[in-house]
Amino acid sequence: MSTKPSSLVVLITGASAGIGAATAHELARAGCRLALAARRKERLEDLARELKQQHNTDAFVCAVDVQEPEQVRAMVESVARHFGRLDVLINNAGVLRLAPLLAMPLAEMEHQMNTNFWAVIHSVRAAAPVMARQGGGHIINIASAASHRGLPYMAVYAASKWALTGLTESLRVELGVENICFTTVYPGVIDTDMPRNLDRSRLPADYPDHRSSRLPVGRVARAIVRAVCNKTVEVYVPWWLRYVSWLFALCPGFFDRVIRWHYRIRSAAARS
Ligand SMILES: NC(=O)c1ccc[n+]([C@@H]2O[C@H](COP(=O)([O-])OP(=O)(O)OC[C@H]3O[C@@H](n4cnc5c(N)ncnc54)[C@H](OP(=O)(O)O)[C@@H]3O)[C@@H](O)[C@H]2O)c1
Repeated sequence: MSTKPSSLVVLITGASAGIGAATAHELARAGCRLALAARRKERLEDLARELKQQHNTDAFVCAVDVQEPEQVRAMVESVARHFGRLDVLINNAGVLRLAPLLAMPLAEMEHQMNTNFWAVIHSVRAAAPVMARQGGGHIINIASAASHRGLPYMAVYAASKWALTGLTESLRVELGVENICFTTVYPGVIDTDMPRNLDRSRLPADYPDHRSSRLPVGRVARAIVRAVCNKTVEVYVPWWLRYVSWLFALCPGFFDRVIRWHYRIRSAAARS
């Protein structure tokens, strides 16, 4: 059964840019009450002003580093206190760093795992009791096409998103009995700061940037709003990525060769 989004209380992490900010606009248009979280408070306040002007929405702003469990717990508590409830949590904050595994410092790997994976554990542990007490809720985790197929120079990012997929599937079953439902969103390449500002200094010069095939951010934002209404289990943007992920699972060795060719992966000797 479809839920009407109007008046739902939705907390979005990573709302200061990209998919999070675009989703805030779409949810405000649909009449939701919003809490916006990220580290850059000025950007959240600018977004809150835009939401007020364009949709007459009063958004609640939380400055938070999602890597810090105490800050995440305080964020969820302050949202629940401000609105009296929390209906939907969108775990969207994320980082992407590309480099050969052997060239990536351990701290950078930990930063990706902490932001993309551990932060979701912190927020679920903070939000699930609130949702269970109020009779249910909805948690939406933003994964990636790389959740189903590891890609070169993206090993740790892909691992963080695979981990997020496993976490979400398990919790869907475990917390479903508390009437907390889960959605995993799998975006392809989306035109946000993430691919635009990517540090390519450790990549081969011919590593593709997918500039011409990036999708507009509004596509993901609207898909997330539909997921809020329909409590969809999995969302792929574009939709056909679901079928590509099945093919990846069916013939992994074949796709290793396709991906090696597409990403121009050659041995150091062949490059020189
Ligand atoms: N763009 C794509 O092609 C693509 C594809 C697949 C999946 N995704 C996923 O979609 C999500 C959003 O990505 P995007 O493209 O919108 O990226 P983006 O434009 O770079 O935005 C990332 C957001 O995450 C926030 N963030 C990062 N680290 C944080 C931290 N420690 N604490 C709190 N907030 C933090 C940033 O806010 P502050 O810097 O202000 O903290 C920002 O609002 C990510 O999970 C990403 O992995 C993106």
